[in-house]
Amino acid sequence: KVLILDFGSQYTQLIARRVRELNIYSEIHPFNKIPTNLEEYKAVILSGSPMSVRSDDAFHPDLKGIRGEKPMLAVCYGAQYLAHFSGGEVAPSNTREYGRANLSFVKENETFLKNISAGSQVWMSHSDTIKSLPTNGTLLASTHDVQNAAYKIEGETTYAIQFHPEVYHSTDGKQLLENFLVDIANVNPDWTPNAFVEETVEALQQKIGDDKVVLGLSGGVDSSVAAMLLHKAIGKNLYCIFVNNGLLRKNEFTDVLEQYKGMGLNVKGVDASARFLDALSGLSDPEQKRKAIGRVFIEVFDDEAHQIQGVSWLAQGTIYPDVIESVSATGGPSATIKSHHNVGGLPDFMKLKIVEPLKALFKDEVRRVGASMGMAKDLLGRHPFPGPGLAIRILGDITPEKVAILQEVDAVFIGELKKSGLYDKVWQAGAILLPVNSVGVMGDERTYEKCVALRAVESTDGMTADWVNLPYEFLQKVSNNIINKVKGVNRVVYDISSKPPATIEWE
Ligand code: XMP
Repeated sequence: KVLILDFGSQYTQLIARRVRELNIYSEIHPFNKIPTNLEEYKAVILSGSPMSVRSDDAFHPDLKGIRGEKPMLAVCYGAQYLAHFSGGEVAPSNTREYGRANLSFVKENETFLKNISAGSQVWMSHSDTIKSLPTNGTLLASTHDVQNAAYKIEGETTYAIQFHPEVYHSTDGKQLLENFLVDIANVNPDWTPNAFVEETVEALQQKIGDDKVVLGLSGGVDSSVAAMLLHKAIGKNLYCIFVNNGLLRKNEFTDVLEQYKGMGLNVKGVDASARFLDALSGLSDPEQKRKAIGRVFIEVFDDEAHQIQGVSWLAQGTIYPDVIESVSATGGPSATIKSHHNVGGLPDFMKLKIVEPLKALFKDEVRRVGASMGMAKDLLGRHPFPGPGLAIRILGDITPEKVAILQEVDAVFIGELKKSGLYDKVWQAGAILLPVNSVGVMGDERTYEKCVALRAVESTDGMTADWVNLPYEFLQKVSNNIINKVKGVNRVVYDISSKPPATIEWE
């Protein structure tokens, strides 16, 4: 496996993804918590960072046991860090070094640059530049504006690049990672979904034995795939609970419950809508709403779990980005933007051991694992949906009436996306109910009603996202249908903001 040391770059997870796309398993750890079992990692990649190496509080990782001893690839900050502290020079750059650039020089006969030639597009994102290379450094590539775009250290298997190979705009980025990992570090690309299912089922059987496990299904891809893996491993000893928090999509609860039963899962549906809506009453702050929902969910789930005799494990559909985000929330180098996800949200009184079979996977890998177990395409292709559901798409306070309106609007939008074949082209879509009334005219009547925003984004992991260029005719149809069919809405707008600087959800 491959170790990625995180210095807080927004792109660190993308490095891990690219590496896994090569069928190589990779793990991200904060630079200040380097794992002690270093012998298990065959190569190390240093991420970028929002920091400048010239700043007083720049990150100074202790690379003992890594540098010079293992193949190491230093990206962006990593490349500057090596230069700055090992005899080179880093200075603020005069030209703008952000965005697309093209390699103007590529050293020949370098395994590191195999199949990459001058002209190749790379993605730059830095404000410092490497003025001179560190001791024993050899220049490998340049762009027009950046002389030292890639270098290696003679006598070590240490490589450094100023650009970001993990970003799709670096067109040969994956090739570069493959050159480094497969050809230079000799890592075997043998990590596939089938291998994962086999290994995981066996490991789960070993770990759980004849114990009973309880799992909360959400209707989403992650918890469903986690359930199938456990079902394969321990069969009837898996008890699933599917809670209706009253903030799901229209008909979602009954439809999905049926689907789960069809998959052979032992699942109990619990309708706790009233309890959730009660707890939300009067709350309008997004984080307070999230907390209230989290709290009630735990209460409801705990009541249900107590009814299963002798259960000793709690299974969760936690996936890798959740783990990373909670690591950074507890002292890692990157900033927490929203308090997502359920990591660490377990109250003491639940006293169950935790099993998280998908903890090492990214979303698309979870889908591939699900497909390799024969799970239905519509379940695996389902858009991500936030745990707090429509509560964070109704801006401000929540009432049953608002939920009902938004469910209708959302059903029209999603229904049309499916009908027109656009659903699978979009990573996530939904509608947002705005706390705004506006004037309209219907027939001869003045109306003063709600406004909804439609949001559809393209993304690979939710970390960054672009709004989708949906056809005008499609938007026109959706808008007409919403305004004609959903009482209380007289205006529809389309959100054309990307993440960053906006986020996917409005709250
Ligand atoms: P943002 O809004 O941060 O969303 O760009 C990124 C992804 O995370 C989902 N999201 C949440 N998921 N609980 C969740 O389980 C939450 O509180 C939450 N907030 C956002 C969002 O739907 C998107 O897929």
